[in-house]
Amino acid sequence: MTTLALEVKANPGGFGAEVTGVDLSRPLPPPVLDAVKAAFARHAVLWFPDQPLTHDQLEAFTLQWGEYGWDPYVAPLADRPHILEVRRDASETTTVFGGFWHSDWSFQATPPAITILHAKVIPPVGGDTLYADGCRAWEALSPAFQAMIAPLRAVHSAGRPYGSAGFYAKEAGRTGMKILPSAEAEKTYVHPLVRIHPATGRKALFVNPVYTLSVDGFSEAESAALLGFLFKHMTEDRFVFRHAWAANMLTMWDNRCCMHNATGGYDGHTRILHRTTVAGDAPRAAADAA
Ligand code: SIN
Repeated sequence: MTTLALEVKANPGGFGAEVTGVDLSRPLPPPVLDAVKAAFARHAVLWFPDQPLTHDQLEAFTLQWGEYGWDPYVAPLADRPHILEVRRDASETTTVFGGFWHSDWSFQATPPAITILHAKVIPPVGGDTLYADGCRAWEALSPAFQAMIAPLRAVHSAGRPYGSAGFYAKEAGRTGMKILPSAEAEKTYVHPLVRIHPATGRKALFVNPVYTLSVDGFSEAESAALLGFLFKHMTEDRFVFRHAWAANMLTMWDNRCCMHNATGGYDGHTRILHRTTVAGDAPRAAADAA
């Protein structure tokens, strides 16, 4: 039997790391799982190259991290209620799914802690995913600005993409993905604008341009000014890395402290990945922990 040696190779700066020396097709032995969990807490985005997985194996890997999250507005694979297919066929010219900065399902009362994405078909060009570190973005703000925004709360909703007139609804039937727009998507949820990560205790900015509509209690102009500043700040190059995919790579990211953005640039080629989520907690305010 071959013994694999876990290796974690972090990006400069520590946000994002490649993990090799593990076989995700089988349950990870407890000490290995603990080491991978420690790497995830440290780096927030992990990718594991060369991990061919069946649906059963992807589900079993997901459940080593917690219960499944709730994935609305996109039909799952037939007979696999917890696996979404992120798919864009070679003939499509529609909006790239996830092609704007966001944190997955931040409009939910308890947004998913983790998203896991397993690559099946990767185009020869384009299709990278960008990740932005919400902890370092918070830490780079001045103490005075931090004190001003820490007590604030932000209003989130799925309406922009998934409402009856949302941007995906306009393309329904023209994409390989089964988007399920709904009036329900207009419902709003209020979350702390700065949240404490339950595992690491680090603070992170928790707003994103897709699902965050406004700052609770602010006028439209005030919200636009503050959120506009934060979105620009959070996506500065110093907090972002570009992740290139390969078939059979599994990538997982922490929605509690980072945003992501799927890029295009592969029209004429097919891109297919399978996605699961792991349930999370109700975001806890940084101000409550002070
Ligand atoms: C997503 O937002 O879940 C999709 C990310 C990607 O396709 O790279």
